[in-house]
Amino acid sequence: MAFVNQPITRRSILGLGVGMAAFGLAACGRAEAPGAETTIPEVANPSYDLAAGIVTLSNGVEMPITGIGTYALSPDEAAESVYWCIECGGRLIDTAAAYNNEEGVGRGIAQAISDGLCSREDLFVTTKLWQDGYSEQGVDGALGRLGLDYVDLLFVHQAMGDYRHGYEVVLAAQEAGKARCVGLSNHTDAQFAEVVDAFGVAPQVAQYEGHLHLQRHAAQGFVAQYGTQLEDWFPLGGKGNTATFLGDETVVAIARELGVSPAQVIERWHLQEGRVIMPGSHNRDHIRENMDVFGFALDGDQMARLRALDTNSAYFGMVGAMSDETLEAFGDYVFEA
Ligand SMILES: NC(=O)c1ccc[n+]([C@@H]2O[C@H](COP(=O)([O-])OP(=O)(O)OC[C@H]3O[C@@H](n4cnc5c(N)ncnc54)[C@H](OP(=O)(O)O)[C@@H]3O)[C@@H](O)[C@H]2O)c1
Repeated sequence: MAFVNQPITRRSILGLGVGMAAFGLAACGRAEAPGAETTIPEVANPSYDLAAGIVTLSNGVEMPITGIGTYALSPDEAAESVYWCIECGGRLIDTAAAYNNEEGVGRGIAQAISDGLCSREDLFVTTKLWQDGYSEQGVDGALGRLGLDYVDLLFVHQAMGDYRHGYEVVLAAQEAGKARCVGLSNHTDAQFAEVVDAFGVAPQVAQYEGHLHLQRHAAQGFVAQYGTQLEDWFPLGGKGNTATFLGDETVVAIARELGVSPAQVIERWHLQEGRVIMPGSHNRDHIRENMDVFGFALDGDQMARLRALDTNSAYFGMVGAMSDETLEAFGDYVFEA
């Protein structure tokens, strides 16, 4: 079984660019300077269906717009979180070889399926290849740990090592039916363009750190030129920063206005910006709350107040679950926000 790729030509990029200009999208480029005036897409991506909770990706595959993240969870915690998420309707699951918990994620999925909560086809499972996994064996290793025949989305996790080859490997996995979609995670615009130019095929999804303090409107406009959907990681600021995000006075005030929680306000902001998210949690109540973001809406004024919180600040730091080898592979690498 092979899934359809979306070949990208200069002409199609230009065509999309013209369409984007008509929609008032930001031009390509790096993240805006703090406080800079930002052109934000006012016309929603027609393939992003907020009411249905689904975005139709450039190759026609449907992706849920929220779900569960498993960074820094142990395999047992990941199994529980995945199960709890599926139990309350979540269908998007995000892991990575580097999280050392794919086996636990697979267990949570298998349990949910055997308990009749969902079928495999209902789920959208995402994993990521670390640089030591840029090979067919790397892909098969991830599938084996997950206990799956295919994943729905396979990322090159970082622009590290021979990441061009990494992209070649995920494209080959897609061609072989082992991944329905491919993605680039943590690539700069230049690195993104480099690999797309090298293979003439754009990824369906780009996954970058993105939150109220790092809103990435320019990146969203940049990848949209390629038909690529932006997915924000650290939607709540990441472990260690959530108190700042959830306690922010603007967020708290809007939560009171709407009668929802601060986390729900932030998550809904991401969704109304047209992003995919996967808040991480090992708390059943939080997970239930995080899946319950479709019964209210932020108005224009509330969106503007939240947009004003952008400080162009990245909070990525290596914590928890990574093995010594994985941490070593990072070396002095820092993702340029
Ligand atoms: N591509 C990449 O390089 C990359 C990097 C980092 C992360 N990611 C992905 O993105 C996902 C999300 O990032 P993250 O998990 O690191 O950070 P996050 O989602 O921004 O924040 C997770 C933190 O928020 C808390 N939380 C979640 N829901 C809550 C709620 N409703 N109320 C209060 N607190 C809540 C969690 O605590 P509790 O457990 O107590 O709920 C946890 O401490 C990851 O899990 C991973 O799948 C990708």
